[in-house]
Amino acid sequence: MPDALIPDTTWQRLAAEARGAAEKAYAPYSRFQVGAALLCADGTVVTGCNVENASYGLTICAERNAVAAAVAQGHRDFRAIVVVSPNGVTPCGACRQVLSEFAPAMPVRLLSKSGKVTDTSVGALLPSSFGKQDLG
Ligand code: THU
Repeated sequence: MPDALIPDTTWQRLAAEARGAAEKAYAPYSRFQVGAALLCADGTVVTGCNVENASYGLTICAERNAVAAAVAQGHRDFRAIVVVSPNGVTPCGACRQVLSEFAPAMPVRLLSKSGKVTDTSVGALLPSSFGKQDLG
């Protein structure tokens, strides 16, 4: 679904959900709290936050946790995602790949705590991606 078809009220709802999720982040090592809110095709919003670990490499980002939670709830058709972080960062490479698996053209809104808004898309964040189309 193109960006224009997501109403402002939906973006606002996603932003509120993502902010709430960021508050639940378990980030005692980086102190960098991230929240994600994923809009599913049926209107359900599924959230995720980053969950760190004393074995640092086991950390899972907010975006991937949102996707995993949504899939576990039976959702695979995603229409938009909002990610809230202290400074409005773009998703890491691993998260871009995982988002691309399910929604290679989905609109992405990145928000900072201070309210900076960046609109982009999974396709723009991960051009020339490897995906299911490449497998025989
Ligand atoms: N992190 C996310 O959850 N999502 C992003 O888009 C960027 C990074 C997390 C991972 C780690 O817990 C912390 O932010 C610092 O890298």
